[in-house]
Amino acid sequence: MAPIPIISPINVGHIDDVIELSKTKPDTIPQRFVRDITERPTIATTPANNHHHHMPIIDFSNLSKHNTHELFLHELLNLATACKNWGFFQVVNHGVDLNLMESIEKMSNEFFMLPLEEKQKYPMLPGTIQGYGQAFVFSEDQKLDWCNMLALAIEPQHARNPNLWPKKPEKFSETLEEYSREVRKLCENLVKYIAIGLGLKEEAFDSMFGEAVQAIRINYYPACSRPELVMGLSPHSDGSALTVLQQAKGSPVGLQILKDGIWIPVHTLPNALVINIGDTIEVLTNGKYKSVEHRAVANENKDRLSLVTFYAPSYEVELGPMPEFVDANHPCKFRRYNHGEYSKHYITHRLQGKKALDFAKIQTRNAF
Ligand code: OGA
Ligand code: NI
Repeated sequence: MAPIPIISPINVGHIDDVIELSKTKPDTIPQRFVRDITERPTIATTPANNHHHHMPIIDFSNLSKHNTHELFLHELLNLATACKNWGFFQVVNHGVDLNLMESIEKMSNEFFMLPLEEKQKYPMLPGTIQGYGQAFVFSEDQKLDWCNMLALAIEPQHARNPNLWPKKPEKFSETLEEYSREVRKLCENLVKYIAIGLGLKEEAFDSMFGEAVQAIRINYYPACSRPELVMGLSPHSDGSALTVLQQAKGSPVGLQILKDGIWIPVHTLPNALVINIGDTIEVLTNGKYKSVEHRAVANENKDRLSLVTFYAPSYEVELGPMPEFVDANHPCKFRRYNHGEYSKHYITHRLQGKKALDFAKIQTRNAF
């Protein structure tokens, strides 16, 4: 059974398709895309020099069972440090077949280049996050992102809406299916290693998540003549446990993460996957690992494509900080809640930094 769409009619006004806009009126930016001065991005594409370090790189082959214990521990420590200090890292030798990554990338590009009428056979309705269009739009006066996306539920199977799986390009669905299976294996392994790195049992997250939910969002950011006026994707943290981002080959830099109050552009290594911690892991670890706010900016000359997989607990699961992370020095920061309710809360509000997590926060009263 597909998730039930929100029944109450939402008036979101007219939403321009940005791919069409950039094709037919490359110099026009409708007012709905122009951000208020305070919300405009900085488009720097090189990391600021004073930001001495780059996003950590994890070599997944070092974590395979065939390696020496020393190598394993070394990489495990790298992973734990990356999760703690960055919440974002790149994985190389991740085991996802490179040909498959290339195929899904190519087919996604082909999909976005189809005529609008073809793509509109799979409309993302207001208040839902499956199909082609713009997500997270809830009102007529809300600013729009400079992005079109194709979003699909992958697992569990009953969450899928088969009518929204594109029939063109040919083999898209099969390829997506195969790609998603491989990314899922990576996620399953990652949550194991993250658990071990936290001093937990290997299966601690796995067994808690139940049949994990998996979804994909393929984001297309057309070139924009005034990228400094628009936002590719509004700042947010992900509502998942983990997110796996593949940036298409030849795409310009576009992803930015907020670190120590500064937006840092993310330069991806060829064939690497970018991983980030989502809200679920922040809650489970009582904030030891944090979901990091990020956003995407548009580029003046080049289109950009990213494929983003979300891996999250089953909707039935109850979550809250694990007792291992709560003590006198680390008071409990989040209440217990049902993950399905969190997901619903997440997708029925506009993206707004880390605000979605307020849903679960225990409000501490200030001493006065
Ligand atoms: C997302 C996301 C960033 C990007 O889809 O949640 O953060 O670079 N995407 O497309
Ligand atoms: Ni994100």
